[in-house]
Amino acid sequence: MAATILITGATGLIGFRILLAALAAGHSVRYTVRSEDKAQIVSSNPAVKKLAPGNRLSAVVIPDFTIDGAFDSALVGGVTHIIHAGTPVAVPTYDPITQIFQPTVNTTSSLLSSALKTPSVQRVIITSSIVGNLGHPSPATSVSAVSVSAVSVSAVSVSATTRPLLPNPLPSTFSDVFESYILGKMVELHNTDEFVKTRNPHFTVSHVVPGYVFGRNELALDAAAMQTQNSSNNFLMVGLLGRTLPMPLHGSFAHVDDVADMHLRVAFLDPAAHSDLPQDFGIATKVDYATFFDHVKKAFPKAVAAGVLKEGTVPTLPVNFDASESEKLLGRKLKSFESAVIDVAGQYLETMGVEKA
Ligand SMILES: NC(=O)c1ccc[n+]([C@@H]2O[C@H](COP(=O)([O-])OP(=O)(O)OC[C@H]3O[C@@H](n4cnc5c(N)ncnc54)[C@H](OP(=O)(O)O)[C@@H]3O)[C@@H](O)[C@H]2O)c1
Repeated sequence: MAATILITGATGLIGFRILLAALAAGHSVRYTVRSEDKAQIVSSNPAVKKLAPGNRLSAVVIPDFTIDGAFDSALVGGVTHIIHAGTPVAVPTYDPITQIFQPTVNTTSSLLSSALKTPSVQRVIITSSIVGNLGHPSPATSVSAVSVSAVSVSAVSVSATTRPLLPNPLPSTFSDVFESYILGKMVELHNTDEFVKTRNPHFTVSHVVPGYVFGRNELALDAAAMQTQNSSNNFLMVGLLGRTLPMPLHGSFAHVDDVADMHLRVAFLDPAAHSDLPQDFGIATKVDYATFFDHVKKAFPKAVAAGVLKEGTVPTLPVNFDASESEKLLGRKLKSFESAVIDVAGQYLETMGVEKA
């Protein structure tokens, strides 16, 4: 069934990959951006042009997504599905409150409230993160909702349906961007659950919950962008260029291609016909980043010998996250960490004009 999908976050790693997958599947896509310049980045991208979407692709410019009613006009005219991947990641230079916590929480409420006024909307998919389920170290030592209360998070397997207790009161300041990112995801989950319970929407809502996402990013058109405008791939690039990442990454990853497919799969799932399935879906595979460069040495020995790719360090924070439903739902094996590393390193070599083999 071809649908009209509104996608937020189309200028980002995940949202753009979803946009490409949705167009390739024959859907019409409307995407929201904060400026005309950002719309140009999407519409002029070679991967988009290759798909020749014509009038199946259109942009809506919304300078501030957080104000009430911001999405009203973007949804008019038959939008059936919404995929909301347009919230910030934890960029260390961002202001923790105004550039991370507030947009994460307020953009989602504003989008849900606009969807409530739009009868054509059938389904809303929100991109969350495993950190929203794992919780922040302090409040997450007790876990509520899906009956895992009073058990340490590290001792239990957390899943997309786990809801860590929110701190009471919510902090008004944050020690760093990671704390505001985690709390933002936790509060968004809580608020969206409350919205569904209390507002009884005419559409259904699910979250897709990835671990750290890596893979080819068609938005990164040169070697500089590969390292600086590449979301979580920026972290892998640190390790591919001989440097040390100053903080550990959660040892749970997802290939961006799988993340995009998962969003579309979940978007077209009818929850009423699948009472056996949970409402929210994780997509994450356990990984230890210590061995990532072995894959690089194997795939690109010449680039390693020439010093274009150099072994760095990506520390791992081990986590226990259960996303076993994802392979069942996609009906295939998830892409391996090795393939994600090769895709990112290979794309970097392309942008450097270096022979891959
Ligand atoms: N990458 C990962 O490893 C990972 C893992 C788990 C979950 N996620 C989640 O997936 C979603 C997308 O992540 P990503 O990796 O695609 O990130 P990304 O490449 O940094 O893209 C973020 C997107 O969100 C938009 N955005 C950022 N701040 C915004 C704000 N204040 N107001 C409105 N829009 C804003 C950006 O638009 P502009 O271009 O206008 O800035 C961009 O389109 C986020 O919710 C993130 O938490 C990511």
